[in-house]
Amino acid sequence: MQSQQRRILVTSALPYANGSIHLGHLLEHIQTDIWVRFQRLRGNQCYSVCADDAHGTPVMLKAQELGITPEQMVEQTRAEHHQDLQDFYVNYDNYYVTHSPENKELCELVYNRLNENGYISKRTISQLFDPEKQMFLPDRFVKGTCPECGSEDQNGDSCDNCGATYSPTDVKNPRSVVSGATPVLKDSEHFFFDLPKFESMLKEWIRSGAIQNEMANKLEEWFEQGLQQWDISRDAPYFGFEIPGAPNKFFYVWVDAPVGYMASFKNFANAQGFDDSEFWQNGNDTELYHFIGKDITYFHCLFWPAMLEGAGFRKPTGVNIHGFVTVNGAKMSKSKGTFIKGRTYLEHLNPEYLRYYFASKLNDSVTDIDLNFEDFVQKVNADLVGKVVNIASRCAGFITKKFEGTLSDNIENPELLSEFQLAESVIAKHIESRHYHKAIRDIMALADKANQYIDAQAPWVTIKDESKQAFTHDVCSMGIHLFRILMVYLTPVVPKLSADAQSFLNDEFTWESIKEVKKGHSINKFKAMLQRVDADKVSAMVEASKENLKVTSNKAIKPKTDNKQSEIEPIADTIVFDEFAKIDLRIAKIVHAEAVEKADKLLRLELDIGTETRQVFAGIKSAYKAEDLIGKHTVMVANLAPRKMRFGMSEGMVLAAGPGGDDLYILEPHAGAKPGMRVK
Ligand code: 2FM
Ligand code: ZN
Repeated sequence: MQSQQRRILVTSALPYANGSIHLGHLLEHIQTDIWVRFQRLRGNQCYSVCADDAHGTPVMLKAQELGITPEQMVEQTRAEHHQDLQDFYVNYDNYYVTHSPENKELCELVYNRLNENGYISKRTISQLFDPEKQMFLPDRFVKGTCPECGSEDQNGDSCDNCGATYSPTDVKNPRSVVSGATPVLKDSEHFFFDLPKFESMLKEWIRSGAIQNEMANKLEEWFEQGLQQWDISRDAPYFGFEIPGAPNKFFYVWVDAPVGYMASFKNFANAQGFDDSEFWQNGNDTELYHFIGKDITYFHCLFWPAMLEGAGFRKPTGVNIHGFVTVNGAKMSKSKGTFIKGRTYLEHLNPEYLRYYFASKLNDSVTDIDLNFEDFVQKVNADLVGKVVNIASRCAGFITKKFEGTLSDNIENPELLSEFQLAESVIAKHIESRHYHKAIRDIMALADKANQYIDAQAPWVTIKDESKQAFTHDVCSMGIHLFRILMVYLTPVVPKLSADAQSFLNDEFTWESIKEVKKGHSINKFKAMLQRVDADKVSAMVEASKENLKVTSNKAIKPKTDNKQSEIEPIADTIVFDEFAKIDLRIAKIVHAEAVEKADKLLRLELDIGTETRQVFAGIKSAYKAEDLIGKHTVMVANLAPRKMRFGMSEGMVLAAGPGGDDLYILEPHAGAKPGMRVK
């Protein structure tokens, strides 16, 4: 066990104030909460803060749409988010909001210091402007025709059809998603943060152990591409903080969001009456950790440490980066009902099931975590209910009924007990290093041993033999001692179950409890602590999540394709048979599939069409994982003229149905169709 108390501040990424908490958020908040609870159980001083990320154009527009002020909307959402998280037993010391006086003051302080230290410059840039709404348009609020392939109705920054990325000023026939008006180019002065000046510091910091090696390698690629000046200002109208000395210029939301970590902690420290500055100054023995998803690495591992350094603050001790959540092997999808909101989950299932399941899969890498519903039901039932709680339920009844609710003074199997106790240092190391899956694996191996021990001693048999009463008492007490140690280990993961176990055991756990043995201790009557997961409830949750889409889709602002709803497109104009006959459709076997780097939407497929293998780039990355496609048969247009794309030649097209984004389904023939067969 450790001796010196550490002083730690932990944050999770701040959820945007214009959407609900969903499974993706929960992975991170649960990962963070387990780590924080573990530190506290060990006796460390560990603070944790979070907040709603209030600012930016999407929040401003959504509030307008709802006919309320952004402040009102943000406060409503903040309260909702906080409640959702608490109901998953995710407990921050403070769950604040970035639209706060502390944050405004801190942003100004950071900015003024950066400015004084020569890291801010100004330059005029030209951007698309909505003349009707009288506002500059962020990239994703522009749509138009792709400048590369001519495909219509594409995003302002990238094309779903060919995967090209471009500047919104290059889009043909652009239109504003906000008003439908044709945007015009307009000049405006912007403020830039001199990120390149921090290159050598950042290169050193990312190799200091602050981030996982795999992410440090990724960042090296960004260094190779060259760091750019970062545009930190936005023009009015913008929901945010005005830049000091620059009327109508606002800090870009990604400036005030991470400063929001400091502000939330300051708000908490002020309320508690302590000084937060030691957590932000250099040269203290305090530790600072940010838990984030891999999509916001750039902000947390380049901009943020550079801002901190430039403003004279300490840099994070660690940025702990996790992957995305997939459900049943695929990206979360609104149409499949796997885009599950926290509240919908809570209406159907116990939050500790999810905490346990995520813990059993989490590690320190950025690979995605798959929530497979079959596995989820099986694992929670087998492990938590079938193994752990079962130990107590097998032993407690006898202690209460036959031995006056008191544990024996003897330890029946001291070797087994010490094996449970000695596992402590390894389990602690696994949790500390965020290899939660290894901790769970070790804890469940111990639970198996406890059950084997009880099976072998068979107290339900010996209880019937008067001469073996003392032995039965010792065995059942032993079972309770083992259960107790397992529950201490599991406390950070399933805090409510642990609290129930503590009431039953008449105990209050700390990590040190592992070393104690409760000989002759009184326990309470055992009550059922955890129900088995009912698979029907999982199905009901998925159904209800499909409903969510129907209810909310009309209201949502949908500048991006992944928010597309499933509308049936009108039937196209009639063609004659000869026209159809010109299209040569072939059965193709997908022999290879891989993601195309630097293209968000594209997979590169190799298709066997009997006589040859074709390379096709297909915009189906949001709907499929490359590895899931390999070996499948599909239908391709084999006589489409080859098209040269940024990433290589596309020699045909695969057929897929659906509006796009994750709501897209490739066609698959019935079994028996062979590569090369013509589709007629
Ligand atoms: O990506 C997001 O959801 C952002 N709202 C995270 C902000 S984290 C921090 F920098 F504030
Ligand atoms: Zn295109």
